Amino acid sequence: MISFARGAPAPEALDGTLIARCAVAALEADPTVILSYGTGGGYPPLRTWLAGHHGTTADRVLVTNGSLEAYVFLLQSFLSPGDLIGLEAPTYDRALLQARMHGMEILPIPMEDDGLDVEVLAAACAAGRVPRLVYTIPNFHNPAGTTISLGKRQTLVALAEQYGFWILEDDPYGRLRFEGEALPSLYEMGGPDRVMFSSSFSKTLAPGLRVGYLIAPPDLIGTLTTRANQTYISPAHLPEAAVFRVCEDGLLDPNIARVTDLMRVRRDAMADGLRHMPEGTRCTPPQGGFFMWLELPGTMSADALLPVATEAGVIYVAGSACFMEGHQNTLRLAYSGVSPEEITVGMERLGDVFRAAV
Ligand SMILES: Cc1ncc(COP(=O)(O)O)c(C=O)c1O
Repeated sequence: MISFARGAPAPEALDGTLIARCAVAALEADPTVILSYGTGGGYPPLRTWLAGHHGTTADRVLVTNGSLEAYVFLLQSFLSPGDLIGLEAPTYDRALLQARMHGMEILPIPMEDDGLDVEVLAAACAAGRVPRLVYTIPNFHNPAGTTISLGKRQTLVALAEQYGFWILEDDPYGRLRFEGEALPSLYEMGGPDRVMFSSSFSKTLAPGLRVGYLIAPPDLIGTLTTRANQTYISPAHLPEAAVFRVCEDGLLDPNIARVTDLMRVRRDAMADGLRHMPEGTRCTPPQGGFFMWLELPGTMSADALLPVATEAGVIYVAGSACFMEGHQNTLRLAYSGVSPEEITVGMERLGDVFRAAV
């Protein structure tokens, strides 16, 4: 079975030796803090390092067991059931699932090739449907692969300012860029009193570490820290301390460069395999990250074809999981977790399945 379904780094991207070395070094340097119950906000040296990295102070940083947890804490403590939350359509399937599970009212904002359709958001706001929070994935979007253009970033930040809503910029993929120049973040553009920022070491280092973080105003970080403390006392400090050593010793950037190279060849292999897809299939290969987003032609259904593809030995995520409803003709292909050779074979299999269904 070749899986294009998992948005996880390939085994070659996971450097066990690096993590082992840094975990041992961290434990030798700071055993008592690491092995005791820690603080709800995360391993203090990592909070301080992240604060410096983002040009802010440690009281604005919460380190969580993966960044999804920070998002869930926000749904529980910053928002209330019935609040309006703006979500890109499509969006990260778990972000949508959690918003639904927490009883949010959802404002879907359609995606275009250069990011979310800010005109739809502007029209909703003008009509009185102002979200409390807009959740956006700015770079190499999961699942759409897109990056928000500079113009749209400016408009989004201006709308947030005008209508008083918050932006949550969730950016786990931004540093995995294959080509082109990085754009300023919404957090930099809109400032810390309009934009919260979250990211993760899951894609740049290893998802099994479960280390992610949120940057938000200090009073909100205080509230979320209390929630974290009430939920699990403190997040796991050993992986956070190992991540801290990676960062502090200047080993994160080389690892990101290595992972980016591994992902670039995978993106290229999958882009090459697009020639097997039926005529009329739409896909713009991304400039970074883990995902390719496909729109099948006509009335073809990626949902209905998933069992057929599974039978043929290849799986993907049906795009409909990333929308409130509809869009059965879309699918997400993750090239991140498999080898270039598997990608070549998987795309041939998928092409056979889809072309037979036209
Ligand atoms: C956009 C986005 N945010 C958050 C996450 C979750 O990351 P973590 O492993 O840090 O919880 C993912 C994982 O796929 C993601 O794609």
